[in-house]
Amino acid sequence: MPQARGHWSSRLGFILAAAGSAIGLGNLWKFPYITWANQGGAFVLLYLLCIAAIGLPIMMAEILIGRRTQKSPVGAMAEAFGARWKWVGGLGVLTGFVILGYYSVIAGWTLRYFAVCVGWSVRGFDAEAASGAAFGAFVANGVLQLVLAGLFMVLTTAVVYRGIGGGIERVARTLMPLLFGILVLLLVSALTMDGAGSALGFIFNLDFSALQPRGALEALGHAFFTLSLGMGAMITYGSYLSRKDSVVSSAGIVVALDTLIAIVATIIMFSVIFSVPGMAEQINKSTAGMLFITLPQLFYAEVPFGVLLAPLFYLLVAFAALTSTISLLEVVVSYFIDQRGMARGKATFLCGATTFVLSALCGLSFGSSKLLSNFSWVYRGTDHAKSGLFDHLDYLASNWMLPIGGFFITLGAGWLMTRQATEGELVDDTTPAWFRYGLWRFAIRYVAPLAVAAIIVAVISGKDFS
Ligand code: PHE
Repeated sequence: MPQARGHWSSRLGFILAAAGSAIGLGNLWKFPYITWANQGGAFVLLYLLCIAAIGLPIMMAEILIGRRTQKSPVGAMAEAFGARWKWVGGLGVLTGFVILGYYSVIAGWTLRYFAVCVGWSVRGFDAEAASGAAFGAFVANGVLQLVLAGLFMVLTTAVVYRGIGGGIERVARTLMPLLFGILVLLLVSALTMDGAGSALGFIFNLDFSALQPRGALEALGHAFFTLSLGMGAMITYGSYLSRKDSVVSSAGIVVALDTLIAIVATIIMFSVIFSVPGMAEQINKSTAGMLFITLPQLFYAEVPFGVLLAPLFYLLVAFAALTSTISLLEVVVSYFIDQRGMARGKATFLCGATTFVLSALCGLSFGSSKLLSNFSWVYRGTDHAKSGLFDHLDYLASNWMLPIGGFFITLGAGWLMTRQATEGELVDDTTPAWFRYGLWRFAIRYVAPLAVAAIIVAVISGKDFS
């Protein structure tokens, strides 16, 4: 039986919740290190191009499908594209479950680093506890991994349990302004550091010789992940949007905020890194450890007011991760509510508990369980071999599930839905003057599907960009 659906109390509520979903570990953890690995400059420009030409049109498509059908992905696909396309929504629900499984592990780490930094700020910094070896021991501590991922899942579940207005929107309204505030504070302090100039030079140089084809595909794949596209998160959030709220300008604001925050986070991290002689060389060895090994050391040794800024920084990352895990869980939960007629409370507990089982397994895949940590199916024997459950799930979701889901969403919105239907959703008296429907339609029919098909072909031919 369909139940009364919740709604955002206002367009601002939707924008904050959707921006909360988009802005997450993808912006604060993944983007800086892939920018580093691809040597900034040309890569950043290409990423911006992918966001504008592919991400933005798909963001509009997902929100319009949700707002039009007022249904979560499975029902929305059936209604907007035809009953045969239900499985695309089903794939989205499964993708949400998979991403949440591994994402919550890293999200749990941010809680630990917040707590540890508070301790260091109060009692003094302990260099040994901040070393790479200590990090290795921490991630291999199975009990701690279970506790942290479990804690994060409890937080996520508690918010989703309270529903749209009283849970998700309320948290977004509280946390997002705090997040913006903390980020501005960190940016101001970063720009006064010695390394700020080199950081800006690294991020905004136009040296195309450093760019490799693999980087182009990485930029595109990351555009999906960072904007929460390709699995129906934005369809789900759009389905709680009222008909009188503009799809186009909301999508524009969410995409702009996500991009801004990724760039600002990168400026902050690189300013810190470039301020320390010799640090850049060290980073080259472990770009992924930037957030949890390099930064804590730098905050306490180099950054003015580091004792204050370090805990704040990890609090920021935890907030950003939480508003993202909420949206991942909501996609799964809304399937059970809308399609299976389950009450929200029951659906939330069921999905939260099931996901925790997957998070627990992922948490044990950093050394505490040999079996879960060491198996390698993908790229075995090469220098970018995947190893362990965490790695494989990230690979599966980023390289296969999101691009495939995204591909079918563009096909559906561009070719299965009528021009009348999509134009009716996008163009009305709330539509901003910069929007050109013809351009959107061209992007969604040709540019986006071809670009996404290029990723999929690249993956099939063995490239990896998770
Ligand atoms: N966009 C989120 C981030 O950048 C991750 C995410 C992906 C959230 C897909 C929801 C759906 O961290």
